Amino acid sequence: MAMKQQQTEKGSHVPQSVPETAKLALGQKTVELPVLTGSEQEKGMDISRLRDQTGAITLDPGFANTASCTSGITFLDGEQGILRYRGYAIEDLAEYATHSEVAYLLIYGNLPSLRELEQFAGKIAERYDLPDGMERIFDNFPKTAHPMAVLSSATAALSGYYPRLIHPTPTREEIDEILLTLLSQVPTIAAFGYRRRHGLPVIPPRRDASPVANFLYMMFGLPANQKEPDEVIVRALRQVFILHADHEQNCSTSTVRMVGSSRANAFAAISAGMGALWGPLHGGANQAVIEMLEAIYRDGGDFKKYVVMAKDKTSGFRLMGFGHRVYKNFDPRARILKAACDRVLGRLGVHDPLLDLAKQLEEVALKDDYFVSRKLYPNVDFYSGILLRAIGIPTDEFTVIFALGRLAGWLAHWREMLESPGFKINRPRQIYTGPTQRRYAPLSQRS
Ligand code: CMC
Repeated sequence: MAMKQQQTEKGSHVPQSVPETAKLALGQKTVELPVLTGSEQEKGMDISRLRDQTGAITLDPGFANTASCTSGITFLDGEQGILRYRGYAIEDLAEYATHSEVAYLLIYGNLPSLRELEQFAGKIAERYDLPDGMERIFDNFPKTAHPMAVLSSATAALSGYYPRLIHPTPTREEIDEILLTLLSQVPTIAAFGYRRRHGLPVIPPRRDASPVANFLYMMFGLPANQKEPDEVIVRALRQVFILHADHEQNCSTSTVRMVGSSRANAFAAISAGMGALWGPLHGGANQAVIEMLEAIYRDGGDFKKYVVMAKDKTSGFRLMGFGHRVYKNFDPRARILKAACDRVLGRLGVHDPLLDLAKQLEEVALKDDYFVSRKLYPNVDFYSGILLRAIGIPTDEFTVIFALGRLAGWLAHWREMLESPGFKINRPRQIYTGPTQRRYAPLSQRS
């Protein structure tokens, strides 16, 4: 039996049986595989019984063609450059929504009413302060510790202060409590980590400010003669958070689901997601982009030389901020951020030669057959680094900013997984290619 989706009252979709199957022939055996159709008509063959039916498994390095779950959170069409959270276009959310609205939407499935939003934001603000004693953790990291090391360790350590929330089968109320605690305290951890690393006194949170303004305030305090963080900067960071808030089954979100699937607690799962995000092929790319642009600039600005290097597989160099596993036309987030970069740098009166360099690099690469034929376009990280730099975020904190944005998505996926009926521990198979059985020889007999 194949499955199709049926729309429910609130716009979500539930699978419904229709007679569609795919046939797979393996040796003498032919099996029928159920075909699932998602709410946007994408199809997937259900191979969950394949090994029982045929003795064979599937191989898909990098999971490029494998859906690990069904999900109602984010839709992404890489060919058309479409990204929607719970059905809403990323362009609209980035322009009009607040960060809390988007977090609520991702987690609970619908945009909040004013009352729901106030309650949600209020509960987050109530929990900003870290538990007693937690601050001391930051003093024990060396000054050389990368901010992502501090963020992920302190997030895992947070579990130690909430023993009643780390059991394997949290109730709905406990899940809410966990979500609110993490949404509230991870930004505080990020800010306190930054302050301590730079030998600065921590700045306690401000409950009267928006979450984004509060975060900026805890990081940098207020500029002289200003009562609030700069509105242009708050708006830019809000957009960055929203654009990074979810991206379906990317490496870090899959990691959160992987770790959470063993029923490890959410603090551990989110901390693991942060570890996955840190890599330069994923969230660490924003830091890598700026470091690359700085290196090109220091080297005299000859970007064409770097385009040649990126095409040469033996150079080990890639154009950071280019390419994406799913987007094969353009990354809608990059478009929004490119425009935001121009706007914010213009308003702040910043001239950044790295932005000029980035634009020249983009122009050359987009005309080059190597990049065109492989469908390699600037991704979200290509311009986010320049924007974050313009609003005063230090380069090594960029991935932390990505993590703060993605936190809502990670939590939405963790909750969705826990609440999906009969979910299982994630445990992929492998095709073993090592030696076949050998006899152990004692050390004295080995040559
Ligand atoms: N520069 C030069 N060549 C590249 C690049 C690049 N940035 N990205 C991919 N290629 C080439 C790659 O060498 C391969 O060529 P060939 O077919 O001749 O072997 C082809 O394009 C396909 O690349 P791939 O590595 O098989 O593609 P993937 O889907 O496994 O990797 C990626 C996607 C994003 C990891 C990769 O494009 C990359 O390393 N980009 C640079 C790092 C980056 O910007 N990461 C941020 C991604 S967006 C933020 C996020 O959501 O995480």
